[in-house]
Amino acid sequence: MNKVKPINLSLVVVLLTITFSLNGQTTSVEIKSSADAPVISKHIYGHFAEHLGRCIYGGLYVGEDSKIPNKDGVRQDIIDALIELKIPNLRWPGGCFADTYHWKDGVGPKEDRPSMVNKWWGNVVEDNSFGTHDFLNLCEVLDAEPYLAANVGSSTVQEFTEYIQYVTREEGVPMSDYRIENGRKEPWNVKFWGVGNEMWGCGGHMRPEHYADIYRQYATFMTDWSNSDDFYRIASGANVDDYNWTEVLMREIPKNLIEGVALHSYSFVEWNDKGSAKDFTEEQYFSTMKTALRMDELIRNHTAIMDKYDPNKRVDLIVDEWGGWYQVEEGTNPGFLYQQNTMRDAMIAGTTLNIFNNHSDRVKMANLAQTVNVLQAVILTQDEKMLLTPTYHVMRMYNVHQDAKLLPVEFTSPLYVHNGEALPALSVSASEDNSGNKHFSLVNIDAKKEHEIELNVDGLKLKNAVAQILTSKRVQDHNTFDNPEKVKPIEFKDFKLKNGKLTLTLPPFSVVVVEAK
Ligand code: AHR
Repeated sequence: MNKVKPINLSLVVVLLTITFSLNGQTTSVEIKSSADAPVISKHIYGHFAEHLGRCIYGGLYVGEDSKIPNKDGVRQDIIDALIELKIPNLRWPGGCFADTYHWKDGVGPKEDRPSMVNKWWGNVVEDNSFGTHDFLNLCEVLDAEPYLAANVGSSTVQEFTEYIQYVTREEGVPMSDYRIENGRKEPWNVKFWGVGNEMWGCGGHMRPEHYADIYRQYATFMTDWSNSDDFYRIASGANVDDYNWTEVLMREIPKNLIEGVALHSYSFVEWNDKGSAKDFTEEQYFSTMKTALRMDELIRNHTAIMDKYDPNKRVDLIVDEWGGWYQVEEGTNPGFLYQQNTMRDAMIAGTTLNIFNNHSDRVKMANLAQTVNVLQAVILTQDEKMLLTPTYHVMRMYNVHQDAKLLPVEFTSPLYVHNGEALPALSVSASEDNSGNKHFSLVNIDAKKEHEIELNVDGLKLKNAVAQILTSKRVQDHNTFDNPEKVKPIEFKDFKLKNGKLTLTLPPFSVVVVEAK
């Protein structure tokens, strides 16, 4: 969870690689095709589903007896939407919930499962009816890789290692036999394991030195000397700009015990005065975008520390919680973090994903918080109704970048100026997929002005292009259960591809994705 962090705009501006041009001019973007550019890991487009509010219960999971069409209790409409999104991985069961979760409570006959109190999220009773089998089977249906965030804060090494054996061991040991007894013959393929969550906060308020030792102990017992199970172990990472946390972990954890180190950073107006998710001023919009764009500075600074201890980039940076965080919708449980999702969230998603793409040499996974009905959700539900948010549409438009080769970009952004402060208005990333298709994702966060952009694509020998745009009349626009398609992408034809240049004008607060061959 973020603490209050005043943002220093000069840092935001200085630390972006781009510089700024005069407004009103065409922005020229150079596309640098490079043989050693990284591949954009599909896992950057990952999601996160916690036992929090209506994310699992009353969201994803309605139970097998529900009138709502479902597969083993999970809503079919949500399954279809997530498959369409090409969701590459799903993190579960938390979040803060993870360090209170005892996995054995969530396996075996549902009627025999004990209840617990979900102490972080509304103090509600958790009946454990959605457990490990439900989650891992869902991942198989979605063709998404599971990312299990395991309990370290209130667990033991034994409980943790038994969980690994239960899930991944074929047969012949008590835990694998217990799984088989519970109805699952084959083990699941779980590669990604989180070793605790926010250990500096809800995971135990630990100091980094203490957690580094705890991490070493847990990671040691997860596998054998050579990690022949090929587990991908992710250490609970820093809160926003807690660079000392990353420094200590990178210094103290031997590189043969760790594959990824996490980072959490949310976007908001003010941490202590978050404001409405859908009725906000331009001032509040500007402040939110300032915190969103700060992701670039955070990745650069955490990466610089990682580079010091790991110059060959063996350990990845995993931004396993990001997204917008506002006041909950009026009349809803404050512990359930249910919020609407507007074009502002589309701007957060578009710019953040561009930042991740452009840092894909070190950022190998990210998880938007959270999938359904919580924080910057891609899906909202109300009884049998379901809607796709503007954020969903951005994630779907951008899924063309998954596992594509980055085409690095260089440009000078015009400014989005508000009340004497300025932010870069434009954000761009580009990639080439295995079939040779090139994709350009372009965002204009300026709430008032359109900006013309010219991509120099001369070297790419492009012959034709198609594009989609997501925008709306007001930046506060969002989808409702009565009008679920108010904000949705449409075809965008207003561009020119001529003489090695792709030219278009981005309307205020818009996202455009161009596909060119
Ligand atoms: O995503 C909501 C909460 O934010 C998570 O449980 C926790 O890890 C973070 O503080």
